[in-house]
Amino acid sequence: MLSESQIDVLRHSFKAVSKEPEIFAAAFYERLFQIAPHTEAMFKNDMHRQGQKMVSTLGVVVARLHEFDTLLPVITDLARRHVAYGVETAHYPPVGEALVFALRRQFGADEETIAVWTLAYNALARTMIAATYPAAATAHRADAA
Ligand code: HEM
Repeated sequence: MLSESQIDVLRHSFKAVSKEPEIFAAAFYERLFQIAPHTEAMFKNDMHRQGQKMVSTLGVVVARLHEFDTLLPVITDLARRHVAYGVETAHYPPVGEALVFALRRQFGADEETIAVWTLAYNALARTMIAATYPAAATAHRADAA
């Protein structure tokens, strides 16, 4: 999915984010609630803890990107919990955009770094959607083809 050098770029940039998850989370939620205001009501727990959890899950994924297949059960469980939170396929793009916004604004990510994060997020989002909304995943592939 990603080359060794892309994985290096991702790990390097992730190190900065993991040191300051609250700085990441503040910009991430600010942007998300601006572009998809209806998602705000879905977040019921403490935003700081939530931001940390999201960053630490991204960390698990980043650390194991070279063996993406072994992540499938973890990603499937995560996706199923998201259905219970009320997350639908249409919510994935604004979350990806908020992620990129936070990386650019708070961590000065350059275009190469943004491109790699986008690839990784899209792979994760596609896998989560395929696990929980297989019909949408098939339609998505047909659109892309
Ligand atoms: C790559 C994509 C995503 C990752 C890695 C991710 C990660 C996480 C993690 C680790 C949690 C903590 C709870 C748990 O593990 O079940 C969580 C909770 C949550 N996520 Fe995500 N998420 C992603 C996409 C999304 C999207 C697209 C939405 C849509 C708005 C969303 C909304 C939520 C909500 C509402 C919660 C529960 C918050 C609460 O209880 O207050 N997530 N997410």
